[in-house]
Amino acid sequence: MIKILTSMTDTASAAVYGFPPREVIETPRGAVQTAPTVPGAEPLEGLADASLDAFTALAPAGAVERRYVLAQMLRALKPGGRLTVAAPKDRGGLRLKKELEGFGCKIGEDARRHHRICVTLRPEAPTGLAEALADGAPRRIDGEGLWTQPGVFSWDRLDTGTALLMSALPAFSGAGADLGCGIGVLAHQVLASPKVTKLALIDIDRRALDAARRNVGDERVSFAHADVRLGLPELSGLNFVVSNPPFHEGGGEDKALGQAFIRGAAALLRKGGVLWLVANRHLPYEAVLAEHFSRVRSALDQNGFKVFEAVK
Ligand SMILES: C[S@@+](CC[C@H](N)C(=O)[O-])C[C@H]1O[C@@H](n2cnc3c(N)ncnc32)[C@H](O)[C@@H]1O
Repeated sequence: MIKILTSMTDTASAAVYGFPPREVIETPRGAVQTAPTVPGAEPLEGLADASLDAFTALAPAGAVERRYVLAQMLRALKPGGRLTVAAPKDRGGLRLKKELEGFGCKIGEDARRHHRICVTLRPEAPTGLAEALADGAPRRIDGEGLWTQPGVFSWDRLDTGTALLMSALPAFSGAGADLGCGIGVLAHQVLASPKVTKLALIDIDRRALDAARRNVGDERVSFAHADVRLGLPELSGLNFVVSNPPFHEGGGEDKALGQAFIRGAAALLRKGGVLWLVANRHLPYEAVLAEHFSRVRSALDQNGFKVFEAVK
């Protein structure tokens, strides 16, 4: 039986995936961040085989994505390297032990603060890594559609809110941005207008941006792996912004996230510039829109979603 360590000493080469809560597991100081949703992180896929002594992780909730991440971490660990993974019980934690055993690992399991914690030492020859890596890898929808990857937003279907926004968008002109661009679905429609001169695609998820790069081959487009909440100093004076902003973070609803996107859009636009935004009907965006824009119009209200046109 492997003992669960609550406090790990610093390790020669350690990596971390995401932000495991400190009161659940401790991450070695200096561990390299590898989550794709952290701008500036080291890509998990780029870690050399059998190169690390320790990996800690807050495992993602999606089953295919989680098995992919577990397989990547086992691939990157040296034989005997320590893997410490936590997940909330209702977001994959109850399945962690079985999933890791499926890779041939012997598991020490513990529970703390609504999380399951699994610790294992990487076996000499883990089993089933190739299959899990293939299942979670980038792929094209229906074999020849857009590039996508399990784990990115609405990775295998068109989101209802996105579809509604697309049905309402006018033909734009000038320079614009898509805040939280995902795999680039909105960009296709925006770029259909020849009067669009520039389009900045911004997302916090590197996997989504990698897919967008493959999906949107247009010289008017630029890409930025960035957190919209922190501001985008390299962009200003835009004619238009489109966005289907996120409203979930860490498994819970976060209204402040969408509100930050609205403030961020206002900061990027020139006077008279326009924001087109879709949101679930229950989200309280009206007050923030009214505060930062001179004219706000409800352009559509359908199927539980609302589309706003807001002029700065
Ligand atoms: C609702 S999805 C919309 C995706 C795409 N525009 C579409 O319509 O299909 C929101 C996107 O925002 C991204 N995102 C979440 N938080 C972000 C942040 N703080 N900064 C930038 N992008 C973020 C997510 O990765 C996701 O791709």
